[in-house]
Amino acid sequence: MKYSELFEEAIRAAEFSYSKYSSFRVGAALIADDGEIFTGCNIENASFSLTNCAERTAIFKAVSAGKTKFRAIAVAGSSDGDFYRTPCVPCGACLQVISEFCGDDFIIILSDGVYKFRDFLPMRFTEDKMNLNFGGNNA
Ligand code: THU
Repeated sequence: MKYSELFEEAIRAAEFSYSKYSSFRVGAALIADDGEIFTGCNIENASFSLTNCAERTAIFKAVSAGKTKFRAIAVAGSSDGDFYRTPCVPCGACLQVISEFCGDDFIIILSDGVYKFRDFLPMRFTEDKMNLNFGGNNA
């Protein structure tokens, strides 16, 4: 699938955006390494901070369907239906969630071009930073 086609999928996913508070409709289309596509939209809440972004919706759908390896995500956002005017850059929370499953070369497609994950989050907090030792005497 072409990058532009995945972006069009993201626009279509924004149709279901539940954004009654911001009126900013966001859609995401995530492609797994086996080619399966998972879409997501932003889902807002009267308790504003509980809002879930389109990217995380797509990723959580995919992970809950058994997929943890991904090639690319396209993100489209607009408050007036023009999804090409301003690129919708993933927020910090979504970047951290992407970071759990994707490497530096993971592709992020926005309205103005194609990026790599490292362009957005060159340094990140990952499990290797914690020196975890679940099996031993780490208490
Ligand atoms: N939003 C997303 O869904 N993804 C982004 O990349 C940026 C922000 C949503 C959250 C909220 O519903 C609305 O856009 C305004 O912040």
